[in-house]
Amino acid sequence: MRKTRSRSIVSSFAIHILVLTCSIPLSSPEPNEIDQICKKTPFYDLCTSILNSTPPTPKPDLKTIALLMVTNILSNATDTLSFIEALIKKTSDREMEQALAFCAESYIPVVKYTLPQAAEAISQNRFGFAGYCVSDAVKQVNSCNSKFSGLVSAPLGDRNGIVHKLVDVASAIIKQLLKG
Ligand SMILES: *[C@@H]1O[C@H](CO)[C@@H](O)[C@H](O)[C@H]1NC(C)=O
Repeated sequence: MRKTRSRSIVSSFAIHILVLTCSIPLSSPEPNEIDQICKKTPFYDLCTSILNSTPPTPKPDLKTIALLMVTNILSNATDTLSFIEALIKKTSDREMEQALAFCAESYIPVVKYTLPQAAEAISQNRFGFAGYCVSDAVKQVNSCNSKFSGLVSAPLGDRNGIVHKLVDVASAIIKQLLKG
C-alpha cells in the first residue's frame, strides 16, 4: 500500500517536471539569458553592452543574437575603414601611409565580403561557414595591426583591438549555435 502511494507520488512528480520542462521556451532568451550567452564569451561586458543597447525585440533566439553581433562588427569595421581612409589622406609620412594603405586593403574585403557572408551564413543556418568567415576577419585585422608594431605612434588607437574583441565575442556565440 505504502509502496504504491510513493510510486504515484514519484510519477506525478515526473509529470510535473515534464510539464515544467516543456513550458520553458527553448529559444527565447530573456535579459538574463543574454547574461548566460555573454558569460560564454571572452568579453562579457562588451557582449552585454552591445546586446543590451540594441535590445533585440521581441524575443530573439541565439541565431538573432549572433546576427546582431555580426551586424555590430560590420558597422564598427566600416567605421574603422573610413577612419583609415581619412588618415591616409592626412598623413605626410610615407611609411605611415604605406602601413595605412595596407590596413585599408585588409579591411575592405572584411567589410565588403567576409562579414556580410558571415551574416548571410548565419541566417541560412550555415554556422560552420559563419565561424570560418569570422575567423578569417580576425586574420585580416591582425595583419593590419602587425604593420604598426614597429611604429612609434599607433594611429588607429585600439580600433583593431576592439574589432578583434567583437569578433571573439561573435565567434563564441557562433560556437554556441554549433553546439545547439
Ligand atoms: C565600436 O565598438 C566600440 C566598443 O563597443 C564602441 O565604443 C564604438 O562606438 C563602436 N563604433 C561604431 C562605429 O560602432
